[in-house]
Amino acid sequence: MKADIYIGVMSGTSLDGIDVAAVRIDEKLSFIKAQCFTIPEKVRQDILGLTQPADNEIEKLGRLDIELGHLFADSINQFLQSAPFDTRQIVAVGCHGQTVRHRPEAGFTLQIGDPNTIAETTKLTVTADFRRRDIAAGGQGAPLVPAFHNNVFRSADKNRIILNIGGMSNITLLPADNSKAVTGYDTGPGNILLDAWINKHYGTSYDKAGQWAASGQVNQELLQQLLSLPFFTEAPPKSTGREQFHLDWLEQVIHNSHQHVSAVDIQATLLELTAQSIAAAINAENLTKPELYICGGGVHNNVLTARLSSLVKHSHIGTTEELGLHPDWVEAAAFGWLAHQTIKHLPGNLPSVTGAAQERILGGIYQA
Ligand SMILES: Nc1ncnc2c1ncn2[C@@H]1O[C@H](COP(=O)(O)OP(=O)(O)OP(=O)(O)O)[C@@H](O)[C@H]1O
Ligand SMILES: [Mg+2]
Repeated sequence: MKADIYIGVMSGTSLDGIDVAAVRIDEKLSFIKAQCFTIPEKVRQDILGLTQPADNEIEKLGRLDIELGHLFADSINQFLQSAPFDTRQIVAVGCHGQTVRHRPEAGFTLQIGDPNTIAETTKLTVTADFRRRDIAAGGQGAPLVPAFHNNVFRSADKNRIILNIGGMSNITLLPADNSKAVTGYDTGPGNILLDAWINKHYGTSYDKAGQWAASGQVNQELLQQLLSLPFFTEAPPKSTGREQFHLDWLEQVIHNSHQHVSAVDIQATLLELTAQSIAAAINAENLTKPELYICGGGVHNNVLTARLSSLVKHSHIGTTEELGLHPDWVEAAAFGWLAHQTIKHLPGNLPSVTGAAQERILGGIYQA
């Protein structure tokens, strides 16, 4: 049987790379293959430059939009050179785009990476701009992945929680009882602060397996000050990004704490902040004996996952690999699924998660 194949393209807030995944969707979704492509350092810096207010933003945004469009397209073309399927089976690409600003409270979110350029260069139909329709319908535009988690990870007899630890962290609560709504939201930082702090001190992009954090001591006073951020206690729906969790904010809190904390102890404190904010969100939900499955780059931080395992109430903890999808590729696969939803005129959002008035068909279509 000739099945429909969709290509998902995801580059998240961490800026660690562009993930491209191929999924086959007939009655159910099956993963085919995925690969991560490097973001050149100059492009990374240009993206970071646009995540904060800057001079001449329209010119910079316009140029970067096209440059990213080419980068996404080249990644897709390279990915397809070794595709283990006939590329004529590809129905569409679903491209998340690169977030340069996420401000749902101001009524907007902005992802760039021109889909016209991607369609033109790959000769494939492209769907993109998934978040803004949800915002127009009164939602946060985020997180979008819970709808995908609901589709592929829900169980009829086990309560499940899916935790994605990307740049930010988000949870999806999947009750076994299908009369209950799926909920989910961003809990706060994932890897973003850990990455930023080690980068400032060692120039490396991440704290491998959390080893640097593990060699420090948690500073309780600083931890409490960081945890006092109103975002952590706000009721859902809620979503966040680099606008909230960035180095300047962290340095301001450190400065205001009027104490000297060593760099390594700050890293330990940031890991604890990440673990506690995630655990508090999960423990506040009253799902009985949930199974917890983790995905996103944070699964490779063993110190963080060990800490989560001791803080979170759960009946089982593992990664999404146990559910058939490797934790590194869940988000990219989700955008393949969202492309399918758009092409088939099916909704892509969950109002119980984003707060939108109703389900909506998300995204625009750019024909091959
Ligand atoms: N071996 C490792 N040890 C510690 N951390 C790791 C390791 N491998 C990856 N990571 C972390 O995972 C991050 C990338 O995660 P991921 O790709 O899920 O995030 P993202 O692209 O920002 O996605 P999202 O859209 O979910 O925010 C890296 O920046 C790094 O912090
Ligand atoms: Mg990534």
